[in-house]
Amino acid sequence: MCGIFAYLNYLTPKKREEILELLVNGLKRLEYRGYDSAGVAVDSAEAKDISIIKKSGKVALLAEEIKNRSDELNMGVTVDVHCGIAHTRWATHGVPNEINSHPQRSDLQNSFVVVHNGIITNYKEVKVFLEKKGHHFESDTDTEIIAKLIYHFHQQHPNFSFRELVEHVVQQLEGAYALCFKSKYFPGECVATRRGSPLLVGIKTRTRLATDHVPILYGKDADSNPEHRPHGRGEFPTLPRTGSTSEFEPLEDKQVEYFFASDASAIIEHTNRVIYFEDDDVAAVKNGSLSIHRIRRAGDDPQKREITTLKMELQQIMKGNYDFFMQKEIFEQPESVINTMRGRLNFENGTVTLGGIKDYIPEIKRCRRLMLIGCGTSYHSAIATRQLLEELTELPVMVELASDFLDRTTPVFRDDVCFFISQSGETADTLMALRYCKLRGALIVGITNTVGSSICRESHCGVHINAGPEIGVASTKAYTSQFISLVMFALVMSEDRLSLRQRRQEIIDGLKNLQNQIRDVLKLDNKVKSLAEDLYKKKSLLIMGRGYNFATCLEGALKVKELTYMHSEGIMAGELKHGPLALVDETMPVMMIIMRDPVYTKCMNALQQVTAREGKPILICEENDKETISYSQKYLEIPRTVDCLQGILTVIPMQLLSFHIAVLKGCNVDCPRNLAKSVTVE
Ligand code: AGP
Repeated sequence: MCGIFAYLNYLTPKKREEILELLVNGLKRLEYRGYDSAGVAVDSAEAKDISIIKKSGKVALLAEEIKNRSDELNMGVTVDVHCGIAHTRWATHGVPNEINSHPQRSDLQNSFVVVHNGIITNYKEVKVFLEKKGHHFESDTDTEIIAKLIYHFHQQHPNFSFRELVEHVVQQLEGAYALCFKSKYFPGECVATRRGSPLLVGIKTRTRLATDHVPILYGKDADSNPEHRPHGRGEFPTLPRTGSTSEFEPLEDKQVEYFFASDASAIIEHTNRVIYFEDDDVAAVKNGSLSIHRIRRAGDDPQKREITTLKMELQQIMKGNYDFFMQKEIFEQPESVINTMRGRLNFENGTVTLGGIKDYIPEIKRCRRLMLIGCGTSYHSAIATRQLLEELTELPVMVELASDFLDRTTPVFRDDVCFFISQSGETADTLMALRYCKLRGALIVGITNTVGSSICRESHCGVHINAGPEIGVASTKAYTSQFISLVMFALVMSEDRLSLRQRRQEIIDGLKNLQNQIRDVLKLDNKVKSLAEDLYKKKSLLIMGRGYNFATCLEGALKVKELTYMHSEGIMAGELKHGPLALVDETMPVMMIIMRDPVYTKCMNALQQVTAREGKPILICEENDKETISYSQKYLEIPRTVDCLQGILTVIPMQLLSFHIAVLKGCNVDCPRNLAKSVTVE
């Protein structure tokens, strides 16, 4: 929803110019999460106060503003210890203007500043309380109450540590948040916390890390335990004891840098060592040491947070030779689908192993029904694979939009198996639905693309789709990888069914050929581009199909809507005569997906209904299908694969088409208006 980035250098001299550049670059990496305004807070030139620079619009405008104010910001000065916080916003409360941008501040002196991702649901009550105490609000945001509340607590408890103040604040908050705080009263310190929104910290030291974890301290009194004082347990990095023959290099001057971020793509260029925070962790950096404290939920939580080594490469999050991330991600699909299958599907002996769920397969086989739950594109991947799952598992399969599922308070039972499909692993509606099902005792299976995400962590088991980082707001390669992950699950569920042996084999063969076939589909790019030239001035586009390709209609229409702002609708061809046919005339742009699968004849029926109303559909059909092609001047020929995988190939022209229309219309391809990559609010 929004992107948080903070950078703290401890005894690591940096020019102020470098620090600001680092903060802005961090925001650029996170811009896909929100891009209607951005801001940073750094120490003022004299280091006594805090300077806030905010700008509505994209991060590039903020960078320009910083440049314009470079004299006042004293860019050339080097600082040994400094904490800067930054934010890119996707507006929820208050229009996207400078006042509503983050960092939000406590008072005119910027005593405390905060950046926030999420929504505070009880902000009105807290605001009334603070107004009665004499605080004056300047923005329309929910976040401002957080900055003012911490200031209020500081005035009441001047001896509290920064971390204690933050702990007091979050006890009062309801809703979802990831927060990073900076204060002029605690120079060189940073406190961060999360509940329901993602947050991690990257750690960069000159020498080897002294430990691979940070112990968790429970409760508010952790500071009063001398063992937990700086350099004791619970601190990071740990100094070697004097005279010790420790294998660690002495961290003589304890040089360390910390990078707090909403996701790993913002920090991978600096370090690959990260800690993913859990809900209710409060992480504080003081004197260069990081400590993590746990509030609210002690009990059975783990005693430490592991430092994870990221496998992600910087190059994976760069555009390379492409002009847009979305374009790069579409063209990455021949590789990303292989990565999804790698180490899981053995084409030689036809076996499929999904390590993340294999221990749960017997339990899944005994379940009452499968429920597939997600939003947007992730929901479409469930629609695309439902039929195959029904066929190979012989279980009832329900497919649910997470938001609607929650609205209905759908009955869920202990013997249900609930799949939560999410590229980001952070979508609030999907996460809420997960928690709802978990509470009712169902088995929770996560299908995500983001290691360490909330859905990953809160699932009992799951499949990581391994599509690689997806930066473009419009989901493309994640869809095809989600699709394949669910197909592989169906194969696992049917491995001991003799009657399905042939069917399984044809699917496995289909998966084997997929990479080359995707390459062939991508060769249609120029042809798709010329179709886009015909379509980009139109007001609407109907996309019709049925059976295994209905999901492509929905997904294609979603892509067209979100990227081109043009109306588009995915229509189940069987429903045509129940209403949508009224839309069809010689002016209405229509696309129809007609493959030689079990519903071919029915699709041809629909085609005739459309042409009989003077409709001139663009066809997506099988290579060399002369009969079907004869119905239209415009068509795209797609290689044939097994029916249940055809949707992977038919969706790619739709991804390309939406991309080209967006470019022709001058729309922002990677960051469509009003949207964000990760929807961490309900
Ligand atoms: C896809 O193009 C959209 N941006 C959107 O529908 C997305 O798929 C949806 O918000 C769900 O996100 P998730 O997969 O990260 O949960």
